[in-house]
Amino acid sequence: MIVTTTELFRHAYGKYALGAYNINNLEQCVGLFRGNLGKVKSNGDPTRPEVSAPFIVQISRGARSYSDKRFLEAMIRTADEVFPDAIYAVHLDHGDEKSCKDCIDSGFYSSVMIDASHEKFEKNIEITRGVVERAHAKGVVVEAELGQLGGVEEDIKGSVRLTEPDQAAKFVEETGCDSLAVAIGTSHGAYKFTGSQTLHIDRLAEIQKVIPKNFPLVMHGSSSVPKEWVERIRAAGGDLRKHNDKGGIEVPSGVREDQYLPASKLGICKINIDTDGRLVWCAIYRESFRFLPGDFDPRTPGKVFMPAFAGYIIHKNQMLGSAGQLESVRKTLGGKR
Ligand code: G3H
Ligand code: 13P
Ligand code: ZN
Repeated sequence: MIVTTTELFRHAYGKYALGAYNINNLEQCVGLFRGNLGKVKSNGDPTRPEVSAPFIVQISRGARSYSDKRFLEAMIRTADEVFPDAIYAVHLDHGDEKSCKDCIDSGFYSSVMIDASHEKFEKNIEITRGVVERAHAKGVVVEAELGQLGGVEEDIKGSVRLTEPDQAAKFVEETGCDSLAVAIGTSHGAYKFTGSQTLHIDRLAEIQKVIPKNFPLVMHGSSSVPKEWVERIRAAGGDLRKHNDKGGIEVPSGVREDQYLPASKLGICKINIDTDGRLVWCAIYRESFRFLPGDFDPRTPGKVFMPAFAGYIIHKNQMLGSAGQLESVRKTLGGKR
C-alpha cells in the first residue's frame, strides 16, 4: 500500500525514524520489499511482524534516467502485488522543478523532494513554494532542504553549510513544505568523516525548538558505511581508499548507527540510505565474479544479493527503530485497506 510520508511520520515522530532507501534495479527492489517484511530467502517466506517495518522507496533522478523511469514504476507496482502487506511511500529523491512536476503529475509518487538548497535563501523559498502548491493540489507531499551537506548530491558538489535554526523556522512557515532536510554534519557518499563521527545534535535540538511542534525533519547522507562490507569488497579485489587532490588518502567512513535513534528523538523522522546498499551490491557481485570465475549467469550474484540486501534492511530498520512497527502503522491508517 502506497501512503504519503506524512502519514508515516505522524506515527514515527519522536519515537523512531523511517528508513528511506534508494533503489535502481530489480534485485534492490525485491530485497527491499522482502527485508521490510522480515522475509529473507524468498518472496514466499512468512511475514515476520516482529521485524516488519513501514518504509520509503527513494528514486533519484539518476535512477529514473538509468534505463527508463517507467521500468522503476512497473517494478514497484509489481512489488505491491507480490508483497501486499507492505506499507510504504514512493518518494522522488533530490528533485528539481522539472522532475518534481513530472512525478507529481504521474499520479504514482506520494512524495517528492525539491532540492533548491544550493540556491540563495529567498530563491529556495520561491522554488519550494511553487512545488508545494502544485503537489498539494494533487495530494502529494513535499520534502525541502535548507543548508548544505558535504559530498556529492546528484550533479551538485557543495561545501558544507549547517542549517540555521532561525532560517529553518522562516522557511517552513513561508514554503508550506511538509518536511525539511537539515544539514547537521552528515554528507553523501562513502567518505563522511575524517576524525570523530559525531553529528551536530546540538544544532538539531536548536532547530527542533524553533519550528512548529511535531514538524518532521529529515537526515540525508546517513549511511553507516559498515567496515564489514568495505572489508568484503577489499577481500574480493576492490579498494575503496580514495586519493584526494591534496595528495592524501581518504578511507571510507559513515554515520554511527547508534546516532539514528537519538536523532529521531529530536524530530528526525526519515533517514536516507543509499551508499550502504551500494556497498552490499558491490561486495556480493565482486565475490561472485572473483570466487566463481567460470560462472557467467547474471542470476548467480542476484540470488545471493537479494537475501543479503533483505538481511541488511532488517538490521538497518532495527537500528532506526522502525522494525516491528508495521502492524501498529496499519492500525493507525484504519480503513485505508
Ligand atoms: O543523494 C543522492 C543519492 O545517493 C542518489 O544518488 O543520484 O547517484 O542515484 P544518485
Ligand atoms: P548516503 O550517501 O549516506 O547513503 O545518503 C543517501 C542520501 O542522502 C540520498 O538522498
Ligand atoms: Zn540525499
